[in-house]
Amino acid sequence: MDSLQRSNASTPVETESPPFVDTPATESSLLFDNLDELLQRLPSESHHILVTGGLGFIGSHTTLELLKANYNVIVIDNLSNAFVEVLDRIRTLAQKFHDDNGTKMPSLRLHQHDYRDTSSLRPLLEDYRLPSRWGVPKSKIAGVIHFAAYKAVEESIRHPLKYYANNVSGLIDFATTLGDFGIKTFIFSSSATVYGTLATSGLPLKEELCVHKTEEYTDDAGMKQVAQPGSTGITNPYGRTKWICETILADLAASDPEWTIVALRYFNPVGCDPSGLLGEDPRQAPTNLLPVVVKVLTGEYSELQMFGSDWDTVDGTAVRDFIHVTDLARGHIAALSTANEGKLAENFRTFNLGTGSGNSVLDVVSTMEDVSSKPIPRKEADRRPGDVGYCVAVADRSREELQWKTEKSLKNACEDICNFLHVSGLTTVKSS
Ligand code: UD1
Repeated sequence: MDSLQRSNASTPVETESPPFVDTPATESSLLFDNLDELLQRLPSESHHILVTGGLGFIGSHTTLELLKANYNVIVIDNLSNAFVEVLDRIRTLAQKFHDDNGTKMPSLRLHQHDYRDTSSLRPLLEDYRLPSRWGVPKSKIAGVIHFAAYKAVEESIRHPLKYYANNVSGLIDFATTLGDFGIKTFIFSSSATVYGTLATSGLPLKEELCVHKTEEYTDDAGMKQVAQPGSTGITNPYGRTKWICETILADLAASDPEWTIVALRYFNPVGCDPSGLLGEDPRQAPTNLLPVVVKVLTGEYSELQMFGSDWDTVDGTAVRDFIHVTDLARGHIAALSTANEGKLAENFRTFNLGTGSGNSVLDVVSTMEDVSSKPIPRKEADRRPGDVGYCVAVADRSREELQWKTEKSLKNACEDICNFLHVSGLTTVKSS
């Protein structure tokens, strides 16, 4: 197994798993039990997928699941919040999966540059161009999953232009270039943050609450309703970049029916691959709950501050919809398959990716304590600016239209995190 030591040594511009060949759709997948079902769901012409930010937390897990599902993956990552060693770990895990199943490992390439760098992007896309008639561009790249973005809420308040430049302007240039090459299947990393204060309105968080054009829908009581475009109470620039990007993509899809665009609204991704080789390992100081809990477990932080103990919830701490990152990663593959099969209800469609049920901050702490058999020192602290007390998905649309559902629990996530810490040598903790 590769060394798990992190290094800051200069990294290759491009690496490739030998040999770089297309693989046919082959025999098995974690997602689909049955070969026929899998084959039907894979794009027929080509299955190269371009993944921006593919070495980050969600990106790395999605890259691994794509490789398992027989897609060739081209990663673009500038390593601003990830480590190049992750590429080898993804390759090791995917290779083992294919060895175990007697199937052929698809290709995995890294292009180490900013996704906004069009002078690097264009030659990359040129390499995958297909001959086409009538001047209509065609590509072997069957879809793009776009993770690369800044995501620290507090930083976005201090440096809004940095966020708008990367997340919004970057997306515009990126989509323009993709369009030039005829690559028009696009999966966008959005966030439950687009629901803003609607999360605590008492209304179930359905996609129809937050739309980009007037939409008719039937509510739970069977009444016809009309949703007007807009969002309510987004509390920070980061959240607004996600909303604005969704809007831009919705307009793009409306202008050109060749585009097929999915915006996936993530709830709270946690956990990691059960192997312990991939985990949440950002370069920047963490602000999300589980990574902070990990710092307490490893002794880097002396205690967890629980922001808010007076929310209107069962134990007073905030409630979130914690979704295992492997389930989340597989949601992208379901979205990609559905898009490439032409089965989306519209050529721009939003989906919640969540479990549909909530756990409190205190639930997370006690689950992690049980799993690790270690106490997690904590203290109550004031509410964090911009937080909401409750944010839980209605996941019906994803289940019905993407045929996707979550399979893993919060306990699984905590066990997998402990395994990651153990394998990484970061702590002696091992899940009990
Ligand atoms: C946050 C972002 C959200 C983003 C998501 C990405 C805010 C306001 N929202 O969501 O826009 O899409 O991350 O993952 O930051 N908590 C503690 N102590 C800590 C850390 C967190 O008590 O040290 C609490 C928070 O106050 C919150 C809950 O844990 O109530 C979850 O926090 P976090 O993991 O940061 O996620 P969100 O706030 O839901």
